[in-house]
Amino acid sequence: MARPRVLSGIQPTADSFHLGNYLGAVRQWVTMQETHDAFYCVVDLHAITVPTEPADLRRRTRVAAAQLFATGLDPERSTIFVQSHVREHSELSWVLNCQTGMGEAARMTQFKDKSAKFGESAASVGLFTYPILMAADILLYQADQVPVGADQKQHLELTRDLAQRFNHRYGDTFTLPDPYILKEVAKITDLQEPTAKMSKSSSSPGGIIDLLEQPGPLRKKVMRAVTDTGSEVLFDEENKPGISNLLRIQSALTATSIPDLVARYEGQGYGTFKKDVAEAITETFTPIRERTEKLLADEAELDRLLAIGAARARAVAVDTMATVRDRVGFLPAPGV
Ligand code: TRP
Repeated sequence: MARPRVLSGIQPTADSFHLGNYLGAVRQWVTMQETHDAFYCVVDLHAITVPTEPADLRRRTRVAAAQLFATGLDPERSTIFVQSHVREHSELSWVLNCQTGMGEAARMTQFKDKSAKFGESAASVGLFTYPILMAADILLYQADQVPVGADQKQHLELTRDLAQRFNHRYGDTFTLPDPYILKEVAKITDLQEPTAKMSKSSSSPGGIIDLLEQPGPLRKKVMRAVTDTGSEVLFDEENKPGISNLLRIQSALTATSIPDLVARYEGQGYGTFKKDVAEAITETFTPIRERTEKLLADEAELDRLLAIGAARARAVAVDTMATVRDRVGFLPAPGV
């Protein structure tokens, strides 16, 4: 039986992925290569929904791609590509824009949150239609499953609605994607503000650990992580959010259950525990950082890997788009 197809995307909006991206998404993507026909894209079209310097975008897209390969995504097994390399994303997005009601789009809570930052009238129309572009990403590849965090669930529901609507209006065209809720995704919070999600847009530098962090600063950040009153290493999200976050990190990185960790650190205080957490992160991140640096130093190799992904992605996208064009009633394009 064919493997279920999975598609996910990550934005190139920072100079490195962070621990939350790694444990919450990218690490699962690597695992899913074993069981799925996987498509993963660096969504640079999404990145320009907010003002972005071209040089930043270029650099961040390269870093994001290099990091995906460096964490173990294998271009032979999975399709790893840059969204803008496949023009069909923009094309399908337009068609889907025309299937989406204004009110329906206006209900998206992430747009409301993000646009509040700029003031609603300063936000771009692209930011408004962001979820429709995301729907195009998913539907182009006929994905069966989409691994997403809780903040993207509403977008996935919109994607399903749009697929259903299109299929109903124009005839069966798109696979209805299911959310793929990861069984044990570590919810990683800010080291300085352990009740808030670790996030490139809202965390302070001390609250976030980059995948490219050097061991020295990395250790310092962990040692300085806000911990809670008391001295016992216990899992208690309510009263010990800082220690609980570190326990989740340690558990995810060492494949040890939280109760086992709690038992191990009984009577040892926070210091020893934090040192071990820093060690575990460093051990995981160092080889990834080294591979990323190597790839970034070899532009031709990175381009080669991305060309493989673009070709594989295009083959599928062109096929879907040909059906869509025909269903909608566009004339065959001359000479194509
Ligand atoms: N919106 C997603 C996020 O911010 C990124 C994304 C873009 C995505 N296209 C996608 C995720 C398609 C899954 C599938 O996390």
